[in-house]
Amino acid sequence: MKYPKTQYSKSIQDQDRVSSPFLIKYSAVATGKTGKAFMNVILTDKSGDIEARIFDNVPKYNAQAVKDAFVQVEGVAQSFNGRIQIHIKDLTVLREDEVVLEEYLPASFLNADKLYEEAKSMIASMKDPYYRALLESIFVDDAEVAVRFKKAPAAKSMHHAYPVGLLEHVVSIAKMLDFLSAHYGPYVDRDLLLVGGFMHDLAKIWELQYEKTTDYTTEGRLVGHLVMGSELIEKKVQQLESQEGRLPGPFPLEKKLLAKHVVLAHHGKLEFGSPKEPACLEAVIIHMIDDLDSKVNAVRVFVEQDPAVGNWTLLNRQFERYFYKPEWARK
Ligand SMILES: [Fe+2]
Ligand SMILES: [Fe+2]
Repeated sequence: MKYPKTQYSKSIQDQDRVSSPFLIKYSAVATGKTGKAFMNVILTDKSGDIEARIFDNVPKYNAQAVKDAFVQVEGVAQSFNGRIQIHIKDLTVLREDEVVLEEYLPASFLNADKLYEEAKSMIASMKDPYYRALLESIFVDDAEVAVRFKKAPAAKSMHHAYPVGLLEHVVSIAKMLDFLSAHYGPYVDRDLLLVGGFMHDLAKIWELQYEKTTDYTTEGRLVGHLVMGSELIEKKVQQLESQEGRLPGPFPLEKKLLAKHVVLAHHGKLEFGSPKEPACLEAVIIHMIDDLDSKVNAVRVFVEQDPAVGNWTLLNRQFERYFYKPEWARK
């Protein structure tokens, strides 16, 4: 039997009775002002997160309300400091086969295969045989890349910081670059734009570890995804040159340098971690579109998940401002 998902965290309002399954994203025991223990819990479903508290029977529920558990929650929603919290009266742990998994994961999680196919068909549409072979050697031939790319977040916290966020980000950027290559006509090289779109953050699949929680790897901290991406291009070009029939001739040096450049320059400025500032039109466009896509996602997710009641979000520390909440984001 499946427990029906009857309420979503985003639509729960003050004083609502809550009786629905959720996935636990975080839980911890804290001590209140009176010295009594209570539990801080974050519940999640495909609509976003919601805070919850457990005040009674803490030792019992502490063993049950653990991260990554599915639970049937019984409680009441209350507004506290302008945000909605569920006061949990009772909860029951559910097995994974008792819930419909799709109800609890962000949509991108389910679209990983489709997004990866979209990426591969855009790569197949590239005209330049060298740039196309370079991307195919990574996205089509390298099984490790495919497995990791279908799971990776794009960042620890700033933007697309959820499973499959990197793939969502990269496909979104590739589509915009495709459009811009037509818009700016003969002045830009569509294939080089796509090399930048697909390669710029690729090394994040090794820069971050993301099995349970997301954090930087030692390679990520010491080298970083820009230089790691450039090194990967060098390695793949050498492999392609050593394989009979993969390239029409030796990989042109200029193309290899431009491919490395669009990766190394994509953060735009030295103080944002780019060893080189964009020095060709394609690198300028890739940097701007990367910045655009990251910011649109960061603001969209922030507004969507903001717990404040009313028309304005809480303070966003990344942008140092409050955001207006349109109808779709209001509690
Ligand atoms: Fe980046
Ligand atoms: Fe990026």
